Formats: sequence, C-alpha cells, structure tokens
Amino acid sequence: MKKTVLVSGGAGFIGSHVTVELIEAGYEVVVADNFSNCDDTCFEGVKKITGREDLPLVKMDFCDRNAVGKLFKDYHIDAVIHFAAFKAVGESVADPLKYYTNNLQSFLNVLDVAREQGGCNVLFSSSATVYGEPEKLPVTEQSPRQAATSPYGNTKQMCEDFLRDCVAAYPGVRGIALRYFNPIGAHPSALIGELPRGVPNNLVPFITQTAIGKRACLSIFGNDYPTPDGTCQRDYIDIVDLAKAHVCAVARMLDGKMEEPYEIFNIGTGRPVSVLELVNAFEKVNNLKLNYKFAPRRPGDVTAIWADPSLANEKLGWKAERTVEETLAAAWAWERRLK
Ligand code: UD1
Repeated sequence: MKKTVLVSGGAGFIGSHVTVELIEAGYEVVVADNFSNCDDTCFEGVKKITGREDLPLVKMDFCDRNAVGKLFKDYHIDAVIHFAAFKAVGESVADPLKYYTNNLQSFLNVLDVAREQGGCNVLFSSSATVYGEPEKLPVTEQSPRQAATSPYGNTKQMCEDFLRDCVAAYPGVRGIALRYFNPIGAHPSALIGELPRGVPNNLVPFITQTAIGKRACLSIFGNDYPTPDGTCQRDYIDIVDLAKAHVCAVARMLDGKMEEPYEIFNIGTGRPVSVLELVNAFEKVNNLKLNYKFAPRRPGDVTAIWADPSLANEKLGWKAERTVEETLAAAWAWERRLK
C-alpha cells in the first residue's frame, strides 16, 4: 500500500515542488492549504505535471485545531510535512503577533494531533536563519544557533524546539527538521514556481521581475562587505533539489532508518555564491543585461552563510545536483511564462 504524506502549505512555492517529487517517488499526497498567501496556480500546475487531476486538496487553516484533527481522521496520514507559515522577514518585525499566532499555533496543532493519535512522522521546514551570522563557515548542524534577528526567525527556532521536545515526550512522534539555505528557481516544466505578492523581498524574484520589466532596477544591498567582491554570499539551492531532499527525509522516517527520533539536516549545496556572481550568472545563462545598482546594506542581512551539507549527503543519500546556471534559467522560464 502506498504511504500517504500530508503536505501543509502544499499549494505554495516549496510545498508544490515537494508534492510533485513525492508523487513521482510513489507516495500518495494530501495537499492542505488555506490559500492565504497564494492562489491555485501552483496546485493546478502540480496536477498537470503529475497527471493527477484527482489529487486531494483540503482548504483549511492549520490554526484551527478541530480542522487538523478532522483531517487526520479523514485520511490515514503516515507522515506530515509542515510548510504552512508566513515567511516575510520584514513583515514579521512590523507585526510579530501575526507571525507568532499563525506560525506557532499551526505547528502546535500538528504536534498535538500527532500526540493524540499515538504518534506520527513530522517533517518541519526550518531555515538557515537559525544560525544567524555564523562565526565559522560552512555551517554544520552542530554550529550554534544564534539569537533570532526577527520574529520570523524566532518562529523557526521555536518550532524546532517544539518538535524536539514533543519527540522526547510523546511515544511514536518522530521528527526531522530540514534547515534550508536559499531556495530559488522553478520546476523545469515552468508550470510551478515562486509567486511573490507585491514587491519581492527575495533576490531571485526581484532579478526576474527586473529582467522582464516589472521592476525598473535591482538594488544590490551592500558592496562593502568583507567578501571577495564586497557583496553578501549565500548558498542558493535549486527548488527541485530541495524538494527531493524531502522525499529522502520522508523515506528515512517511514522506512525506520532514523538513528535518533529527532534529526536535523542542512539542505544546501555547500557552495557560496555572491549577489554579484548570481546576477552575472543570470545575465550570462539567459543572455540578457540586468539593470542594477549598488545600494546601502539591508538591515538584518548576514555577510555570508553557506552549508556543510555532508550530513544530508551521507544520511539522506541526497545531494544538490543542479548548477546555479540551470536553476537561474528555470527561474527565468517561469517568469516569462507568468508574463
Ligand atoms: C531570507 C531570510 C531567510 C529566509 C529566506 C527565504 C533572514 C535573515 N533571511 O534570506 O530566513 O528563509 O529569505 O528565501 O531571515 N538582495 C539584494 N537585493 C534585493 C534582494 C536581496 O541585494 O532586492 C541580497 C540580500 O542582501 C542578500 C541576498 O540578496 O544578500 C539574498 O537575499 P534574500 O533572497 O532576501 O534571502 P536572505 O536574506 O538570505
């Protein structure tokens, strides 16, 4: 019998790519989303890519405890991947209660239902933001977490701790936290991708929107950092590669391969890329010129962070495969399709 994975926030950017990879790996998937920060573009795209017109979709809010309880009664859920959360760093500073209420309550409800039903495999989508400004690079899972610089970052740390403590306390609850570096790109079909609302905060959507003419000019935030070219360095991870890491993590949980009931993995490439290098690679692979200027540093940005992904390479049997050029070509194909 096929194992069933519940994907909360499954209609969003990361959730939709993960849903595709799970289905292609032979899992049954139940998508649940309240569509608070997306429309049905990606869900429709997932159905097209997988040929699964009958893919179950539950429109619901994970902050509603009764709704989460009912979902687990309606479906036999072998594992849940929890994406349903707000993700705009700046907005979380301006309205922390919005983030604390939504991001914490929704995950607490998932954990409470897991406890109530006597166990479940829970995969939490965490972030490299938990490492703050690292003292040593690359960061391993043992690198210390630093005090969060935003309520958004704080919710990631707190949810990791909720999961750790629930795994320790409630029999049958197992958990994996995946710490993503910077997910970018789109599915090669260009049927699903990132759909930022309003002005994008993240670099790659801003680049593609500038290239297509929706934005006049990209501001590169800071060129006086202590890095080789003065711009910040990040570990940009292809969204399909990232999605595949979830399939490996789910398999590890469902196949009884976990070495500890709570595990953490960095999901990155291990390759630092500066903002300027990313812009140059985008121009080169897509054969165009991008209008950009240097601007002051953005408050809250770290100078440089990239992953040591060797634990995920070894234990999950997963490795980032796509080059940054392939990923940027896919991001551009998606932007052009949206036009
Ligand atoms: C941010 C969040 C991270 C979150 C991720 C989601 C923090 C500190 N960062 O990462 O938690 O998981 O988004 O993808 O919480 N840049 C520009 N011009 C722009 C936009 C960005 O130069 O218009 C630069 C930034 O200064 C940074 C790099 O591009 O150096 C990447 O920025 P961004 O895509 O926003 O990701 P992060 O800030 O790394």
